Amino acid sequence: MTSRRKIALIGAGNIGGELASLAARKELGDVVLVDIPDREGVAKGKALDISQALALEGYDASVTGTSDYADIAGAAVCVVTAGVPRKPGMSRDDLLSINLKITRSVAAQIKANAPDAFVIVISNPLDAMVFEMQKVTGFSQNRVVGMAGALDSARFQHFLADAIGVGVKEVQALVLGGHGDTMVPVLSHCTVNGVPVSTLIGKEELDAIVERTKFGGGEIVKLMGTSAYVAPASGAIAMAESYLRDQKRLLPCAAWLTGQYGHEGIYMGVPVVIGSDGVERIIEVELSADEKALLDNSANHVSELLGAASKL
Ligand code: NAI
Ligand code: 2OP
Repeated sequence: MTSRRKIALIGAGNIGGELASLAARKELGDVVLVDIPDREGVAKGKALDISQALALEGYDASVTGTSDYADIAGAAVCVVTAGVPRKPGMSRDDLLSINLKITRSVAAQIKANAPDAFVIVISNPLDAMVFEMQKVTGFSQNRVVGMAGALDSARFQHFLADAIGVGVKEVQALVLGGHGDTMVPVLSHCTVNGVPVSTLIGKEELDAIVERTKFGGGEIVKLMGTSAYVAPASGAIAMAESYLRDQKRLLPCAAWLTGQYGHEGIYMGVPVVIGSDGVERIIEVELSADEKALLDNSANHVSELLGAASKL
């Protein structure tokens, strides 16, 4: 009888496989990869492949694949990637109708089989999918959160470090707002160990980096023909680890707003502290008037997306 915690990964596709591999290598718990019956073989195959790597490398975690939701019973964390990714030329919002149906059915299964789980949603369009997950499960909002800000901020961090010529660990970068073209890379809070990036790099180059960050997902879709999956998995595992190990990391995530930044009743990317109570706090940082206007625009776009979802 194991006392290790269970990590349920709903969707055994590109991100699901990376999540399984990372969760197992960090020994966060025993991993269950779930997919639809037609793709059960993929879930089982990835589980076997990863398990054999763990044997070689000496990590203690079991990884199994299934299409039976009964196998997620008692999961401490569920990470949801079930759905369809973008193809070149598609926006995240183009996935709304198909992924909404999938998210609704997955949410019902999580509610029935893992009622105490901390749920991290990755499927796109992210802000609408995490909203739907909370609505269908009825879980408290601090236990349902979306992964995007960690990824978008990491992209921003990477581009800045590259352009400035400093190690990536030296750069602090923050992206807020919805996970889409309206996201807001917040230059006023980007520093190299406290030194504002605007003092280290010219305005034109900075503007180009902001634009590249906003379309960083699309850049990869164009190159690979499908969405990024390595960094998205890292973002979600950082959130899961912070919850399971009560690390209280401050990470930008799609969180339920109750008036923070002037918005309520939506999920949107803001800095949050994740610990053993889930989303424990939302941090409000000071924004310039321009940044606040951009964030309001992003929040309006998220609200429009939710309006469209409510009609489907
Ligand atoms: P993928 O196509 O490789 O994997 C998705 C998996 O979900 C497939 O194996 C599919 O069979 C499975 N699935 C479909 N319906 C299911 C159900 N009812 N139950 C269980 N599994 C089901 O896609 P990938 O690349 O892993 O991306 C997954 C999602 O994540 C996409 O919607 C993509 O747009 C989104 N994404 C979000 C990011 C973010 O920052 N939030 C970043 C990158 C991708
Ligand atoms: C990404 O940002 C497409 O949402 C996905 O990579």
